[in-house]
Order: sequence, then structure tokens, then C-alpha cells
Amino acid sequence: MNRKRCLVTGGAGFIGSHLAEHLLELGHEVVVVDSFYGEVPCDRPKEQGPIPLIGGSTTDKQLMDAIIPEFDVVFHLAAILGVKTTMTRPVEMIESNVEGTRNVLRAAYRSGCKVVFASSSEVYGKGAPPFAEENDRVYGATAKLRWSYAVAKTLEETLCLGYGAKGLPVTILRYFNIYGPRAKEGPYAGVIPRFIRASLEGDDMPVYGDGTQTRCFTYVGDAVRATASAMDPKADQEILNVGSAHPISIGALAVMVKRLTGSPSQIVHVPFEQVYPSGFEEIPNRFPDMRKAKRLLGFSARIGLEEGLAQTIDWYRAQGGGKRS
Ligand SMILES: NC(=O)c1ccc[n+]([C@@H]2O[C@H](COP(=O)([O-])OP(=O)(O)OC[C@H]3O[C@@H](n4cnc5c(N)ncnc54)[C@H](O)[C@@H]3O)[C@@H](O)[C@H]2O)c1
Repeated sequence: MNRKRCLVTGGAGFIGSHLAEHLLELGHEVVVVDSFYGEVPCDRPKEQGPIPLIGGSTTDKQLMDAIIPEFDVVFHLAAILGVKTTMTRPVEMIESNVEGTRNVLRAAYRSGCKVVFASSSEVYGKGAPPFAEENDRVYGATAKLRWSYAVAKTLEETLCLGYGAKGLPVTILRYFNIYGPRAKEGPYAGVIPRFIRASLEGDDMPVYGDGTQTRCFTYVGDAVRATASAMDPKADQEILNVGSAHPISIGALAVMVKRLTGSPSQIVHVPFEQVYPSGFEEIPNRFPDMRKAKRLLGFSARIGLEEGLAQTIDWYRAQGGGKRS
């Protein structure tokens, strides 16, 4: 294996911390940069043991110019995300994410460093799945700030492709609902952490809307395997979906989590208007066409939902999940 010097931006976050550990296991040299924005997952490591961590922001142009030339590959995962933040603080989210990506790309372009950019299935918007990489995007009105994160990711992808056209080796990955240990919790954050926490504590498990909306949930171990493999020059200048190909409705997911935790919790339905600020629009169904990632990188998700949920539930239990303080 060719040992690479890898920088992971946002490497103290959920996916980034798993990616940093995976790259280290593969024998690469890994450094993390993170600004510790927002809520901190329960065991998010401030010091990541053998992985050096630089406290700083991708919006700091001087910092990016100084550190990026030291690396062969930048995995650019740093971002402000989450539906609530996106809807309530769109300016902060757009400015920080776009400026950070611009700084990373500029510095990488000058030093010839490969960039792997973490984009999102949100980019597809509310079109009809399966979502293939070349599909058109379908968004709601700009007045609906719910779309601001998708718009920012779209702009960042376009910047990546622009630098790609100038010769920068760059790969764009569109993640589909990643879950696993260390995933963020909170009323607006990932549905899986919300269901697991509620079921372990015996609280009501809130299904937003009627629960018929479908998603493909992707275990973080699969996501970081795909992300590391995107270093391969075969993926240069490519956009690739990263996800499981098996959709499940949110209602069925709640039933599955309740069964796996053996919880007495009630599954309750909560209207979207009670949860999100006005202007929220739900995406009814979302699942990827995974043929390109399979063809180019030989990637397909290996961890089934039940197995991944069981591992995630074990992690929550080990964190004291279910014990009220
Ligand atoms: N989790 C998912 O299901 C999912 C789905 C699609 C796309 N993504 C993308 O994957 C990436 C990682 O997401 P995650 O779920 O691990 O989120 P996360 O919030 O756990 O991690 C993001 C990390 O980035 C850091 N950060 C934010 N702004 C920064 C900045 N300007 N400079 C340095 N660090 C900064 C945060 O402190 C955090 O540690 C993001 O780019 C996100 O948009 C995630």
C-alpha cells in the first residue's frame, strides 16, 4: 500500500472521526483539523490518541494555506449541518461552508493535493428516486430556507468541479443518511439517534409526519470505507453516491429500533409543523442508484440495517444510554 499523508477536516465530528481512525488502520498518516462547532457528540474525542488534532477552522485561509501543502489528500468533511441550523442560521451555514471549501480547494490546487469532498444526498432535492449522479436537481422555492444546505453543497460541488477542470484531482461523495456510533443526537438531528435514545429511556419515539417517508440508512463503517477508497485516481473528477441501496420507511424504522432495544416505548406521530420552523418541506422518498460507485470503486454497503442498528444500540448502551441522570 502506498502510504499517504491525509488531512481530515471536520475530523472530530461523527463521520470524520471514524474516517480518521479507518485511514490510520489502513496505514496512512492522519491529521485532523476541526473547529469544534456546535453540539459535541457524547464521546467526541478532543484528543484523538495517535491522531494529531489541529484546533482551527477551514474559514481560516492562512491556516489552510499553511497546512494543506503538507498533505497528499484532504478529506474535506468540515461543515455546519443539521436541518434546524440550516433553517435558523442559513447565513452562518452558507458563509462558513462555502468559504471553508473555497479555502481548502485553493490551497489544494496550489500544492497539487487531492481533495475528497463530503457532499450530500440533499443535493438531489425532492426529485424522483433512484438518484443517479447525473440526475437533475429539484428544489423548492428559495424562500423555503430548508433548501439552503442543498444550495450551499451544490455551490461547493460546483467549485470542486471548477477546480477539477483546472487540473485539481477531486472526488465528490454524496452521503445518504449515515448512522452509527457517535452520530449526533437532538430533536432535529438524525432520526436513528433520536429513536435509540428515546427507546432506551422508555420515552415516546416521535415519528415526524405519517412515517411513510423512506430513506436509505448507511452504516458509518461502510461510508468511511467508500470515502478512503475515493483516494484512488480512478475516482478523480467524479461524483459518487455513497449509501445503502435498501430504503425503509421511518415508521418501519421506529418499529425495528423498538424491537431491537426491547423497549416499552410508544411510537407517536408528530406533525412536521410542531417540530420544524415554517418553510420546512419533507423529501418523501430518497434512495441512491449505487451502480457508479460499484463500477468505479467496487463499493457496495456491507452492513445491513439490523446489524448496524444493533452495533449502534450497543454503543449507546455503553455510553449510559437509557440511564436518566
Ligand atoms: N451525517 C450524515 O448523514 C451526512 C449526510 C450527508 C452529508 N454529510 C456531510 O458529511 C460531513 C460530515 O458530517 P457529520 O455527520 O460527521 O457531521 P458532524 O457535525 O458530526 O461533523 C462535522 C465536523 O465539522 C466541524 N466543523 C464545522 N465547521 C467547521 C469549520 N469551518 N472548520 C473546521 N471544522 C468545522 C464540526 O466541529 C464537526 O466536528 C459534512 O460535510 C456533512 O455535510 C453527512
